[in-house]
Amino acid sequence: MADHPTGGDAPLVDLRSDTVTRPTVGMRAAMAAAEVGDDVYGEDPTVNALEAEVAALFGHEAALFAPTGSMANQIALQLVVPPGDELLCDADAHVVTYEVGAAAAYGAISSRTWPAVGADLDPGVVEAMIRPDGYFAVPTRAIAVEQTHNRGGGGVIPLPTLRELRRVADTAGLALHCDGARIWHAHVADGVPLQEYGALFDTLSVCLSKGLGAPAGSLVVGSAAQITRARVLRKRMGGGMRQVGVLAAAGRYALTHHLARLADDHARAARLAEALAGSGVLAGPVRTNIVPLDLTGHRLDARALATAARAEGVLLSVLGPRTARLVTHLDLDDAAIDHASKILPHLLTP
Ligand SMILES: Cc1ncc(COP(=O)(O)O)c(C=O)c1O
Repeated sequence: MADHPTGGDAPLVDLRSDTVTRPTVGMRAAMAAAEVGDDVYGEDPTVNALEAEVAALFGHEAALFAPTGSMANQIALQLVVPPGDELLCDADAHVVTYEVGAAAAYGAISSRTWPAVGADLDPGVVEAMIRPDGYFAVPTRAIAVEQTHNRGGGGVIPLPTLRELRRVADTAGLALHCDGARIWHAHVADGVPLQEYGALFDTLSVCLSKGLGAPAGSLVVGSAAQITRARVLRKRMGGGMRQVGVLAAAGRYALTHHLARLADDHARAARLAEALAGSGVLAGPVRTNIVPLDLTGHRLDARALATAARAEGVLLSVLGPRTARLVTHLDLDDAAIDHASKILPHLLTP
């Protein structure tokens, strides 16, 4: 269990999301000690250091701190798709599911999706969807993938698939964007160096506020020219922040202290999956920190399960009438997983 200041441990085993974590004592100390300045003037030394650090991690020229992963994604999409042109992505991608129509509303971007397959992406299917430039059709300009895939049960797109997708994008002259809110988990699960992921994408968005446990903050990663433009787009969207080094310090602390430990979250998710193996509700293999549940045909639907679990001190996310999700994170220890591993199989007896 992460070390927290007074306020104590959360009373419930909260498996809804890895965004529910609270900054630890060490992280808060780093935040309190942060050197700050006005980041709209480019004068916050801690933000500047974080941006340089994250750009280097992915082998790109530059990065830009943004308040949220959604804003980082939307800035990146505006960098690679001009108004009226087209983005291709998975039907379950965060950018077209949970960003409230932002690509259309802010970027005038036309999005077209391939059927939801999570991490089981077929680059051939994507290639067949590409529309060429011309005055009568919507020209495809970019492809977005999500690594790991949130609604795809935390699945990791294999490196050879991404390489093939890069080839497809290059052949058609398209940009490739990665919604890397949880790319850290893919890096830890598959052992693929972050620079290797970085080399495959024109732009990435990466989040400090999910598994890494910072209270807020994401970055857009790209070329120096793209990030200069991204700074304008961020300001336009209302994302220019001032002495935000206090948040950047949390992010820098998270990168140092919370990256390797994601392996613990993966092991705990695997333990939950093991406990549920006999219940017939696992929606797929568990690769990272997400355990997807499919309650089709079960006597409990997702809401009924969530209500019953809450009464036993376990919180989970309802994703649809018959789909639910458990997510492990920094604020859960083995005792919490033991409790959930006892309660959930009991509730889920057929
Ligand atoms: C895959 C993915 N991308 C982007 C985001 C957006 O992050 P934020 O909530 O910071 O806007 C999330 C949030 O959970 C996510 O899961």
